[in-house]
Parts: sequence; C-alpha cells; structure tokens
Amino acid sequence: MKKLVGFVGWRGMVGSVLLDRLQKNNDFLNFNSVFFTTSQIYGMPPNVLNRVSSRLEDAYNIEYLTTLDIIISCQGEKYTKKIYTKLQDIGWKGYWIDASSYLRMDKKSIIVLDPINFNDIQLGIEKGIKTFVGGNCTVSLMLMALGGLFAQDLIKWISVSTYQSVSGSGSQSMLELLKQIGYVYKDISVYLSSKKSILEIEKIFTSSLNKINYSNTKLKGPLLGNLFPWIDTSMNNGQTREEWKGTVETNKILNSKKNILIDGVCVRVPSLRCHSQSFTIKLRHDISVESIKSLLSSHNSWVQVVDNNFDSTMNELNPLQVTGTLNIPIGRIKKLNIGKKYLSVFSVGDQLLWGAAEPLRRILNILINQ
Ligand SMILES: NC(=O)c1ccc[n+]([C@@H]2O[C@H](COP(=O)([O-])OP(=O)(O)OC[C@H]3O[C@@H](n4cnc5c(N)ncnc54)[C@H](OP(=O)(O)O)[C@@H]3O)[C@@H](O)[C@H]2O)c1
Repeated sequence: MKKLVGFVGWRGMVGSVLLDRLQKNNDFLNFNSVFFTTSQIYGMPPNVLNRVSSRLEDAYNIEYLTTLDIIISCQGEKYTKKIYTKLQDIGWKGYWIDASSYLRMDKKSIIVLDPINFNDIQLGIEKGIKTFVGGNCTVSLMLMALGGLFAQDLIKWISVSTYQSVSGSGSQSMLELLKQIGYVYKDISVYLSSKKSILEIEKIFTSSLNKINYSNTKLKGPLLGNLFPWIDTSMNNGQTREEWKGTVETNKILNSKKNILIDGVCVRVPSLRCHSQSFTIKLRHDISVESIKSLLSSHNSWVQVVDNNFDSTMNELNPLQVTGTLNIPIGRIKKLNIGKKYLSVFSVGDQLLWGAAEPLRRILNILINQ
C-alpha cells in the first residue's frame, strides 16, 4: 500500500518550491498525499496526483496527523515545536521531515544533505531514526560548493561573509521588499529622465524609503538600496544564531570528529532569491589552485567551477544566473597574499533548492522507496 504523506507549510517559500520539484519529478505518483494549513482550513489544496482529501485540513488536528506515515513541515519553528512535541508525546511512529531549524541539533535527528551524508542517512534509517531535518541554507550550499575540499579533509577553518537574499526570510519579507521598490519608484520615476542631478534623485530615493512605517513589518527597515548585517537572534557571544549554525550544523552533517570552525558575518541583501557566500579558507596544507579546482568540480554533479575572469564571473556567478536551478557555481578561486594555505572562493546557490526544498524532496523519496 502507498504511504500517506501530509504536507504542512506547502504554500510558503520553501513549501511552494518543494511542491514544484515534486510535481516536475512525478514524485506524487509514489505516495498518497494530504495538504494542511494553519490559516485556510477547508480551502482548496493544490491539484496533485494521489491526493486523498479534496480540501485543506487543519494543521493542528492531531488526530488526523497521527494517521500519516510521513509529515513534511515547511511551516516554521513555532509549528514544529508545538506539533512535533505533541505527536512524540502520544507515541506517533511516523517520519517527520522538517525545513525549520528547531530539531536540527536534536540527538534523535539527522540533518539531511544526501550528496554529502547519504551513508549516515541510510545508517540512521536502519537504526530507527524518524526525524530528518533540512540544514541551514548557507551551510547546505557551502557543503555542496566545498564538498571536494571537505571530503579530502583539507579545510582547517573558514571565515565567511554571506549575501543572503530576502526570500531566505520568508514570503512576507519578499513581498515587503517588492512593495518598497514600488513605493520608491512612484516617488522617483518622474525624475529619472529629468535634468535633476543624480545626488538630488538619490536624496529623494532615500527620503522616500524613510517615509515608510516599518514598525509592523517583518524586515523592520528598508532593504532596498541597503543591507542588514544581522540575521536571526543574538547568541550572547557576539554571534547571531545564523552565524552560530555554521560550525555546529556543518560538523553534525559531516559527522566530523575534528570540529572544523566556521564563522563570519551573515548579511541580508536585497537580491530576491539565492544566497552568495565569500569564503576565506585556511587549508591544512598547501595545494595548487589547479588541484583545488579539480577536487571541487569532481565532487558532485551540481557544482560548477567558474573561471576567475570578468566575463565568466558576470555570466555565471551571480544570483540571477542561478535562480531556479540546482547549479552551485564556485569561482573567484585564488590563493590570498597572506600565505600559501589561504584560499579565497565565492559561491552562489539557490537557497530554496539545495538550501531548503531539494534535500527534503530527496529524503522523502529515500523514505518512500525503502
Ligand atoms: N526561505 C528560505 O530560504 C528557507 C531556507 C531554509 C529553511 N527555511 C525554513 O523553512 C521554514 C519555512 O520558511 P519559508 O521561508 O517557506 O516561510 P514562509 O514563506 O513565511 O511560509 C510559512 C507559512 O506562512 C504562511 N503564509 C502567510 N502568508 C503567506 C504568503 N503571503 N504566502 C505564502 N505563505 C504565507 C503559510 O502557512 P499557511 O498556509 O498555513 O497559512 C506558509 O506555509 C522556516 O522555518 C524557515 O526558517 C527557509
């Protein structure tokens, strides 16, 4: 009999990309599905194969949830905290697949990124692990990009600056940025082909952004023409939680005994989709740039080494070129003047695909095909 899979959070950023990938790959053929909501109970579910209910079910209906073999939640931490805990308390034996960070560091969970940790996932399933969680988006994208160096144990530490798109903060934030664009455009559009000086136009742009009331918004300030070097909550050691995840999640996914240190500054930027990252890497020993490129490009079928020149960088190494694809371009590969063991690389990846939805789709298929 086909397994019954429940989808919660399917209309959010991660959920809708997941749905799209499942449909494109005909995955719905292989299981029965039911769709849940926290806000639109008995509304219309998406039209997919093998759907067992013609309406959206209540995502807080524990009785219904316990009938499921697998639950995929892309709803967020609060939901997971509340519902996962209840389901465990009453002894539900199904598989829980999650996009949120709530369960990532739980001892009973595996952070899934199968091109990196397929063996650990298999071993976990055999041992009876039931909780599989997608990793932090920048961590998963970093591991996909630098997998060839991690696999050879070449990395001593990494210092990273991220350039994280607004969709990484959810659909609400993406809408807010688009509204900021519309709002400001209304104010400056008449001047764009006028004789007004560029500095005067810049002033109108800035004062237009400053007129918006941000108190009830998710972004809390203007992201257009701007950036925020702060993502997630404070960790009380100077780091943000997003920065803290770098070391702990990487080492958990790699099952590493060495505790490879990864730290830096995570920055929200006004690109719509895809996270970019600039890595400074301390290598364990000196190795040529050519060997590094070869290790990187042979690690998995999605990573693409980009030549370190202007045209290749412009054409291949930026968010708009990567959006909606599983490609992980990695370029600007060079040794730093600081010393032969110091490497600098830049990578871009779609955080809604390899950084969120794709590992979830793949673990779902692994569990279905057992
Ligand atoms: N965004 C990313 O790049 C990313 C990457 C990795 C992990 N994550 C994690 O994944 C989880 C979900 O993130 P998300 O970015 O997908 O959140 P999201 O876009 O905010 O969606 C979450 C839920 O918000 C509700 N919602 C309210 N207004 C909406 C609107 N206008 N459009 C769509 N949905 C709306 C929907 O629930 P109802 O249908 O029940 O109302 C939806 O399922 C979070 O824990 C996040 O930390 C996100």
